[in-house]
Amino acid sequence: METIVILTGAGISAESGLGTFRDKDGLWTRYDLNEVATPDGFARNPALVHEFYNARRANARTAKPNAAHEALARLQRAWPGKVWIVTQNVDDLHERAGSTGVLHLHGVLEGALCARCGQRWSAPARMHPADPCPACGEAQTRPDIVWFGEYPYHMAEIWPLLRAADLFVAIGSSGTVYPAAAFAQDAGRAGAHCLELNAEASATAPDFDEIRLGPATQIVPAWVDEILARRG
Ligand code: NAD
Ligand code: APR
Repeated sequence: METIVILTGAGISAESGLGTFRDKDGLWTRYDLNEVATPDGFARNPALVHEFYNARRANARTAKPNAAHEALARLQRAWPGKVWIVTQNVDDLHERAGSTGVLHLHGVLEGALCARCGQRWSAPARMHPADPCPACGEAQTRPDIVWFGEYPYHMAEIWPLLRAADLFVAIGSSGTVYPAAAFAQDAGRAGAHCLELNAEASATAPDFDEIRLGPATQIVPAWVDEILARRG
């Protein structure tokens, strides 16, 4: 049984009602990412940044996993320990669909972090700049989200997975943000077959051996059914 590494982006959650970033009505067409998704933006106006993530957290909590999230959870159950999900998404729809061991490159909306002492805890529905850290008591709490210019989480676990992968699949990512945008190249160089599942070809389409276009809720379940049938 082969090792499958799956990268997901905002596109897998689009049909659950969570917007993407760079599609026609994407988040970055409505917000200035420098104001709400950079350390400088947070230093300048923490209340604005908390408000942005409070709204995103509320959206994510009302959203439901879709057929694409559920299909990946089914694949993991069929091949325990062989299917790894690395996501750029900060929602918890993979986990709520039943997936386990999900590696969140960019952090999680359900996490709070103390910028002073590094303490982590579960985020309340709404966070405010004056919230005291439960460990050091300082009012330096931030969403546990990786901002532009910050280094993504879990890379020490991800590089070996990409080298060991027999199959690398990217789902619903525009291929515009590094290091995730280089994962297909990394896995391909190590011998993986690379498959892209997306509504339209991404910026990294040339890095893939195979591309299937369509809505994730249709093409992801179809792909999972196909490989489960093929490999018994
Ligand atoms: P973000 O804007 O904070 O981006 C963080 C990541 O972008 C970092 O890993 C960084 O390395 C990378 N990055 C991208 N361009 C970069 C550049 N030019 N230079 C350096 N680093 C760069 O995104 P986020 O925090 O993941 O999401 C922002 C908000 O949008 C969140 O609240 C999230 O809930 C919401 N959102 C979520 C989803 C979802 O989870 N499915 C979808 C759309 C929007
Ligand atoms: N089915 C499949 N793919 C879809 C669907 C859908 N229903 N809807 C949109 N897509 C695809 C788009 O074609 C695009 O390739 O999802 C991708 C969305 O791209 P982005 O909005 O750039 O989202 P993503 O690739 O996840 O962004 C990467 O950038 O701002 C940072 O940290 C943020 O994690 C985010 C990172």
